[in-house]
Amino acid sequence: MVETKPIVLVTRKLPDVIEARLSRDYEPRLNPNDRLYSSSEMIERAAGADAILPCHTESFSAEILEKLPQSVRIIANFSVGYDHVDTAAAKARNIVVTNTPDVLSDATAEITMMLIIGAARRASEGERMVRAVEWRDWSPAFMVGTQVTGKRLGILGLGRVGQVVARRARGFDMEILYHDEARLDPDREAGATYFERLEDMLPRCEFLSLHCPATPATRGIISEATLAMLPDGAILVNAARGALVNDQALISALKSGKLAAAGLDVFNNEPNIDPEYRALTNVFLLPHIGSATRETRDAMGFRAIENLDAFFSGSEPVDRVA
Ligand code: DGY
Repeated sequence: MVETKPIVLVTRKLPDVIEARLSRDYEPRLNPNDRLYSSSEMIERAAGADAILPCHTESFSAEILEKLPQSVRIIANFSVGYDHVDTAAAKARNIVVTNTPDVLSDATAEITMMLIIGAARRASEGERMVRAVEWRDWSPAFMVGTQVTGKRLGILGLGRVGQVVARRARGFDMEILYHDEARLDPDREAGATYFERLEDMLPRCEFLSLHCPATPATRGIISEATLAMLPDGAILVNAARGALVNDQALISALKSGKLAAAGLDVFNNEPNIDPEYRALTNVFLLPHIGSATRETRDAMGFRAIENLDAFFSGSEPVDRVA
């Protein structure tokens, strides 16, 4: 008897090793040109598919989920974040949803440290100056930034990524504070100071780094009100999700000097970000590359496949989120 392989719609170009592994055990519908599908195109291409392996670049709102063919039984995301999927609507349609946690914590923590240091030490300003042949002199007052070593770093969300960031930041003698829904056990807390209320932590944060998911409770949590609670001259970094930040409030705080700087790898409405960011010299901007290392992208792919393997062999995928 010929065994039929499950059909998997793969929405973006994946690492070769991942596509090869998918082709061995599945019938993947690949996207070799890495074209961003519109929602209607994605729905069309999903005709007859058993699974979709998407990235955060595809949206699965209730309306889109409703239009997916009945054959689709699992959405195995190539991402740790799954705010692009309406999980309640997926559950209602009996579609399993998985993500890829753990494997991108190191890469994302590296980018976070780069944002912290890049924003504090005015990296993009300096780099642009050198490239534009505008570097004319050196003086004690030239390009003076904020020292990172020994400063207090507040972490909003001490989960997998937040804990790695805390470890790396301790290498810079930073003191770690955190706010989360609940206090962690001493092993994972590793000496960090817990604040049950965000508003009690913010006035103590010389640096604030965001590491919580975008949920109805956290969307826009960085607002005019919360930014005002930070000490003057604080630095904000975000390698989590753009939706955590109210752009107008952040842009005003950067313009007024309330914040010395910000380092951002994620934005609302990527890649069409609020154009005002581009004009600010005190913001260090990256294009959502927290997990963009060869090692991590391979690991994310294998993790998504493990979830598919479990599902199609009748077991519970380890990373099931809905
Ligand atoms: C993630 O995995 O959530 C990253 O942001 C890339 O999508």
